[in-house]
Amino acid sequence: MKVLIILAVIITGIITVNCAIYKNVIFMHGIFAGPSEVDELITWIQKAHPGTNVTAIDMFDTLKSLTPMWDQVNKIMPEVQNIMNASPQGTILICFSQGGLVCRGLLSVLNNHNVENFIALSSPLMGQYGDTRYLKYFFPKYVKSEIYKFFYSTRGQKLSIANYWNDPHHQELYLKYSNYLAILNNQTFNPKSQEYKQNFLKLKNLVMIGGPDDGVITPWQSSHMDFYNANETVVNMRQQPWYLNDWFGLKTLDSRKAIHIFTEPGVQHVHWYKTKAVFDKYILPFLT
Ligand SMILES: *[C@@H]1O[C@H](CO)[C@@H](O)[C@H](O)[C@H]1NC(C)=O
Ligand SMILES: *[C@@H]1O[C@H](CO)[C@@H](O)[C@H](O)[C@H]1NC(C)=O
Ligand SMILES: *[C@@H]1O[C@H](CO)[C@@H](O)[C@H](O)[C@H]1NC(C)=O
Repeated sequence: MKVLIILAVIITGIITVNCAIYKNVIFMHGIFAGPSEVDELITWIQKAHPGTNVTAIDMFDTLKSLTPMWDQVNKIMPEVQNIMNASPQGTILICFSQGGLVCRGLLSVLNNHNVENFIALSSPLMGQYGDTRYLKYFFPKYVKSEIYKFFYSTRGQKLSIANYWNDPHHQELYLKYSNYLAILNNQTFNPKSQEYKQNFLKLKNLVMIGGPDDGVITPWQSSHMDFYNANETVVNMRQQPWYLNDWFGLKTLDSRKAIHIFTEPGVQHVHWYKTKAVFDKYILPFLT
């Protein structure tokens, strides 16, 4: 009798969790933007999964998004921790553009996180090397081949974009100065690299979405963790040293079939989060 009651309680518990409680979703916005980016996406999530708790991070909005990446990660971390604590059923991260790099940082430093799926939406996950309108707006005099002189300096590193600027022609300076991307990748010495990797490996799924018509992320394949070599040929993630040496867990995730790479043509950068087909095909399947 006792056993039966306990069984019934367990089964009811499982059914309740499965049916009624969706995982909390956290959205991290891109550069020069804010939480409103996700407005439409929230309505789609609510329609598909009524009652889902979606939190759009309302920190480092607009110009504040230029704050150095570690400062952003350290300030956002407690908020993410609170949301995770309120979501024992697991958490989903949807991170757009620069936000994807903020999320990579969070997933590296958060011990005991319960993020199951990390959805990186057109994010320069392996860095950026391209003069887009964003760069031109702030640095009208610089071209991409020259701006390393400023970005790869102590002063330059006070800007978020410099923290993940990845100039394939000046890798020595990148390794010397990049105090964010090179560390996340374990390309430069990081005494906590094993810890970061273990934390990153707690993910169940890494979902990387990007496409050739993005127009901002350069090369656009950085959204899939591919990147330029020294002659600006894009080299696939699976042939890159950070993957082959499993410096932060990519290869292990891949051996678990946890990596999902999606390419969608015809989507410009600021349209990713408001394109219903992208949501239906690549985001919705990873919200449970
Ligand atoms: C959503 O999550 C936040 C953060 O944990 C919490 O404060 C809020 O009460 C939750 N809302 C619902 C409807 O569960
Ligand atoms: C550029 O790099 C690729 C990959 O390493 C190589 O196959 C190709 O020959 C190189 N091209 C030039 C012009 O050096
Ligand atoms: C990171 O790189 C250092 C130096 O190459 C190496 O000793 C360490 O094992 C690497 N960490 C991981 C997680 O691979």
